[in-house]
Amino acid sequence: VATTPDFVTYPSDVAVADAVCHDRWVEVTWTDRRSSRFHHLWLRDNCPCPSCVAQITREQTFEILAVPAGLTPDAVERTRVGDLFVRWPDGHESIYDTGWLRDHVYDRADPHTRSSTRSTPRTSWDSSSFSAPPTFDATAVMTRDDALHDWLVALSTFGCTRVRGLPDDPDVVGELAARIGVVRHTNFGVLWDVKSEPDPITNANTSLRLPPHVDLPTREYQPGVQFLHCLVNDATGGDSVLVDGLRVAEIVKAESPAHFRTLTTVPWNWANRSRTSDYRWSSPLIVLDGHGEMSEIRVGNWLRAPLVDVGFDRVEEAYEAYRHLFEVTYRKDLVVQFRLVSGDCMVFDNRRVLHARTGFDPNSGPRFLRGCYSEREEVESRLRVLKRAGQDGSTHS
Ligand SMILES: [Fe+2]
Repeated sequence: VATTPDFVTYPSDVAVADAVCHDRWVEVTWTDRRSSRFHHLWLRDNCPCPSCVAQITREQTFEILAVPAGLTPDAVERTRVGDLFVRWPDGHESIYDTGWLRDHVYDRADPHTRSSTRSTPRTSWDSSSFSAPPTFDATAVMTRDDALHDWLVALSTFGCTRVRGLPDDPDVVGELAARIGVVRHTNFGVLWDVKSEPDPITNANTSLRLPPHVDLPTREYQPGVQFLHCLVNDATGGDSVLVDGLRVAEIVKAESPAHFRTLTTVPWNWANRSRTSDYRWSSPLIVLDGHGEMSEIRVGNWLRAPLVDVGFDRVEEAYEAYRHLFEVTYRKDLVVQFRLVSGDCMVFDNRRVLHARTGFDPNSGPRFLRGCYSEREEVESRLRVLKRAGQDGSTHS
C-alpha cells in the first residue's frame, strides 16, 4: 500500500514529534522543534489510503462532499515511526507519511517563500553576469541524466542556455527538445527554418535586424521554451542577442512604478499577418502571477497590432510606458551579444528572455538555423522526474 498520494518518495531527517488537535486544525510539532498547523478538512482531503486514492493511478477518489464542512478528528497521534495518525468520527483512519507532510507544510508567515510549480528560484541577469549563455555539452545532455539535470536547472534559473556540439543534422534540434518532453507544434511546423528567403512569411526569414522580441506573442499562450540550432553561420553579421525580460521588468518597476502599473494592466494587441492564418491576442506587456511576480513578458515589434482594446483615455499612457520598456531592452548593460557557431543550440525561456539578432549580409555566406518550441512545464516535469530518480546529485533515491 502506498504511503503517499503520489509517486514521489520523501526522505526526511525530520519526523513528527507530537500532534495536538485544536478546534479547527491539528498542530504538529516536528523533531527539529518547528511546528506546523494543518486544517482538519485539508488533512481529510489529503488522506492517502486506498479508499481515498486509487492505488494504480495515485489519483484521488475521495470527494470533499463526502464529509461535513465542520469535520473534526476523534483522535490525533504520532505513530511509532513518526508519521501522523488521524481517526475521523466515521471511523475512517488516515496516516500521513512524515516526509510527505513536512514537504507539504503550508503554514508559514510568507507563503511566497516557496513555489510549488518552479523547481528553482529565478536569478535575473545582465551583461555583467556572463558574455554568453551558460553552456552545456550536447553529447552529455543527450546521453547522461545528471548532465540533463544540470542543464535544465540552468534553464529554469537563468531562462537561457547554450548547448554546444550538436551534430550537423537539421532534425537534431527536435531530438534535443524531446529529451526534455513534448515538442510544440505551431503553424510554422514542428521544426522550422530560420534563413533568408525570397518569399518569407516572417521577418525572421529575411536578413533584417530583429529587435528584441519573444516568439508568437500573437498567441494566447506563448511557447515557454525556444530552441535555435545553428547549422551554419558564415554570413557577415547575424550575431545573437539575449536580454533578460525579468531584469527589464525589475528596472522599469524601479524607475517608474506608474509605467510598471500601466504595462501590467493595459492590454496591447497582437496579430499574425499571413495569407493562411490569422492569430490574434491581446494582453498586457508584462503579466504578473498571483504573487505579483512577472510570469511573462510580451515584446515583438513586428507582431504588434494597432492598439485598440485600451480605451481612448489610456493610449498616451500606454505609449509612454511601452517606450520606457522598449528602451530598457536596448540598454548596453543588459544585452548579451554572442555568435552562434555550427553545432550550437540556444535554448531559452521564450516567455521571459527576449532574443534579437543583428542584421546580416545574405550574399556574404550561408546562415541557417533550425528551431522548435516546447513549454516551461516540460522542463519542470522532467526536472522532478530526474529528482525522483536521484539524478539531481542527491544521495537518496
Ligand atoms: Fe524569434
